[in-house]
Amino acid sequence: RRILLVNGPNLNLLGTREPEVYGTATLADVERITAEAAAPLGFEIRAVQSNHEGVLIDAIHDARGECEGIVINPAGLTHTSVVLRDALTGVSLPFAEVHISDVYAREEFRHHSFLHDVAAVRVIGRGLEGYAEALRELVSLL
Ligand code: DQA
Repeated sequence: RRILLVNGPNLNLLGTREPEVYGTATLADVERITAEAAAPLGFEIRAVQSNHEGVLIDAIHDARGECEGIVINPAGLTHTSVVLRDALTGVSLPFAEVHISDVYAREEFRHHSFLHDVAAVRVIGRGLEGYAEALRELVSLL
């Protein structure tokens, strides 16, 4: 059984990107933490990160029939992308929206999420552990 883990633009820079906001752990750490949360539940992770919206859309489409749900940190696309929302609702897979930082404590433009009303699970501002929490909550709904 499989879950798709999607990380959006700039998350490849984790570790060196604004460490005061995002910490010093890397994308590899994110993927390891999520996989470690999934394994005892009998799930494996398919991980994708891209700075290109279309690559993320294709990965979401390709999850159909292959993954049972999606854990996604859409990064800046959270606040801008109808396309990403349409991809997620289009494949009819339950998904968890994750943000490492507390977007509600930051600039106002980060307060709006195009996914907030269609996400099955939202975990915000809990650092990397938020990915593990999101995975567990999502799996509990399957
Ligand atoms: C983020 C929050 C977004 O506002 C930002 O654009 C990101 C990361 C987070 O994980 O806290 O790139 O999704």
